[in-house]
Amino acid sequence: MIILGIETSCDETAAAVVAEGTKILSSVVSSQAAVHHPYGGVVPELASRKHIETIVPVVDQALHSSAVALKQLDAIAVTRGPGLVGALLVGFCFAKSFAYALDIPYVGVNHLEGHINSVFLTDDPPPFPFVALLASGGHTSIYYVTSHTGFELLGQTRDDAAGEAFDKVAKMLGLGYPGGSRIDQLAKEGNPENIKFSRPYLNKSTFDFSFSGLKTAVWRYLQKNNDTYHDQIPDIVAGFQEAVVDVLCYKIIHAALAKDCNHIALVGGVAANSRLREKVRHDAKNDGIKVHIPSMALCGDNAAMIAAMGYHYLKAGIVSGLSDDVFSRARY
Ligand code: KG4
Ligand code: ZN
Repeated sequence: MIILGIETSCDETAAAVVAEGTKILSSVVSSQAAVHHPYGGVVPELASRKHIETIVPVVDQALHSSAVALKQLDAIAVTRGPGLVGALLVGFCFAKSFAYALDIPYVGVNHLEGHINSVFLTDDPPPFPFVALLASGGHTSIYYVTSHTGFELLGQTRDDAAGEAFDKVAKMLGLGYPGGSRIDQLAKEGNPENIKFSRPYLNKSTFDFSFSGLKTAVWRYLQKNNDTYHDQIPDIVAGFQEAVVDVLCYKIIHAALAKDCNHIALVGGVAANSRLREKVRHDAKNDGIKVHIPSMALCGDNAAMIAAMGYHYLKAGIVSGLSDDVFSRARY
């Protein structure tokens, strides 16, 4: 089955062609980061407009580089939610119309399930069941995953998502948007021991997270050291990043132990963080747990993961109808 995947939930316009749910024939991601950079965050109206401009060339490029002809496409999978409604509608309406014109089925996919399934696009996918940490700009959640479509939510953030905290701290320091990768790079020049921030929810007996207090602690530090902090930016971001990574790492390993699971998956944009990847791998080894992380290109938003997830819906006979609509918030 050859599926065209489409993703426009936030600030990436993406299209991909995937065969049999695992073989990526092409994957094109057009980032709007430069559009949103001056604002320190995604501006929804600008995102929708940019998706409208970009969707046709991006789909064209994905089809062209896959060398798959239109008549070889079996179906289209598209992100239905959660995300920015105006942004989602661009991809969703495009997919609906394109599928109608080609007379093939289309299926709306949950973006979060797509991220979790991105781990099956690696050479080393985990066996079921496994525990997944999904950490992105909009979500920070832990799931017990029993099948391609079976997810039990074990815990989630009560306020900011981990990626959102990275982006907000970067904004406070004038590092621009998106902040995660900038902080990741800058932290390598700093020492996380020099400026320490408290670890939110670390020892609480829950798999929930809370990152807004940590973000405020960084803000307070900047206020208190207004005259001197400019020379300490690498140490500040290293200290902040280490606090986030400690909490994410502790919780995902404890969730795996609680579920008696030997396999962990890290997915979502924050899974691209080099310190997180290193620490989870190191700490999990001590408990005999194997860690599975998608390639960097598949951690952030992409359409290959949407096509991969759509494959499992379509195989189960699930398709979307012409009257179906997008949704902004997830049920779980
Ligand atoms: O999964 P994603 O591309 O989009 C959402 O579904 O939200 O995740 C984007 C988030 C942003 O908050 C970005 O700052 C963060 O992932 N991110 C990182 C890194 N690369 C991206 N956070 C920490 N370290 C990184 N290297
Ligand atoms: Zn995402």
